[in-house]
Amino acid sequence: MSPGGSTLENGELPTGSAASLLQECLACGVLVVNARGRIAACTPEAAAHLRAKAERLRNAPVTSLPAPLPKLIRDAAKSGRPVTNLEILPTLPRRGAMTLRVSILPVKTRTQSQIVVVLNNLTSAPVFEQNMRRLDRLASLGTLSASLAHEIKNGMVAIKTFTDLLVQKNQDTELTEVVSRELQRINAIVTQMLRFAAPKAATFTTIHMHELLDHSLRLLHHQIAGKSISLQRRYEARVDTVRGDDAQLQQAFMNLLLNALEAMNTKGVLTVATEITEGKPGTRWLRIHIQDTGMGIARENLGRLFEPFFTTKKNGTGLGLAISQRIAHEHQGAIQAQGEVNRGSTFSFSLPVLSG
Ligand SMILES: Nc1ncnc2c1ncn2[C@@H]1O[C@H](COP(=O)(O)OP(=O)(O)OP(=O)(O)O)[C@@H](O)[C@H]1O
Ligand SMILES: [Mg+2]
Repeated sequence: MSPGGSTLENGELPTGSAASLLQECLACGVLVVNARGRIAACTPEAAAHLRAKAERLRNAPVTSLPAPLPKLIRDAAKSGRPVTNLEILPTLPRRGAMTLRVSILPVKTRTQSQIVVVLNNLTSAPVFEQNMRRLDRLASLGTLSASLAHEIKNGMVAIKTFTDLLVQKNQDTELTEVVSRELQRINAIVTQMLRFAAPKAATFTTIHMHELLDHSLRLLHHQIAGKSISLQRRYEARVDTVRGDDAQLQQAFMNLLLNALEAMNTKGVLTVATEITEGKPGTRWLRIHIQDTGMGIARENLGRLFEPFFTTKKNGTGLGLAISQRIAHEHQGAIQAQGEVNRGSTFSFSLPVLSG
């Protein structure tokens, strides 16, 4: 039992105890016991916590309350010391188990002394507390995974350089190839995690989107080489300047382009097209379409593509589109997906055109 830290002096209400009592009093019940040991007042919540009728409790002697409440109240009255946040299992015959949190505050004024009893039913609290703890854990998981990803990534750079060298020297060694491939996969996951959990502050500059798209396509050259994939550029937008973060936009387009290539596997047509569309008066959008002739998208998956961790791929992280969408939003833009099974897909990225 915790007698609490404050004592009553000069008949004053100890402010610390009163404050904490008020604080926990959101769903609490309150009983007031008079100097004659009878219940002078009782809120409906208190009656509910004690599984009794309020009118039967009013004016009843304290001894009619379930144990151990009578003794606790008597002791507090005698010593003048408050009891704060004591958890009890009151004896409520044939009424099931219940945990109550009790605070008892003897209040002495010049004319009368009373005992205020505050009751909280904790029986349903664990669910709420569990949810709060889970939310807490999720929040810290985000921060934790960001720092973890960061550390892993630093180590990966060195490991990857050396295994690449090993693979070059031992072309036919299956082991080194497996190691290299798996390292690449881990590297991709960690990069995505880092991006998702802790995006670094964006640096906005004027971007020429056609240049950025060309650069992204150049980076994918080796993924296309050796396959029957043809590339079509249809840059129809007369203006291609936007305000944006170069690295972020490139990452978004790499995700979309990689998805398109993965959807086509070894053959198909990859089209990158741009156009200007009119929005509300005075606003123009640069729309970039990444179109493939790949496997397409099942109708039931269309609504889930941008959810983090949604993937239909064996080795996918399911973060690519979630990240791309976040980047689009950070640029006041949007991404839309269209697709039909076996008839290819189109991802359209819209960004406000830089006026002037
Ligand atoms: N061009 C596309 N054609 C068909 N399906 C697509 C296309 N782009 C995305 N998808 C579907 O959306 C899912 C989510 O894509 P997302 O890029 O977020 O993750 P992923 O590609 O599975 O994994 P990661 O990008 O992390 O390697 C994919 O698993 C796939 O089912
Ligand atoms: Mg992807």
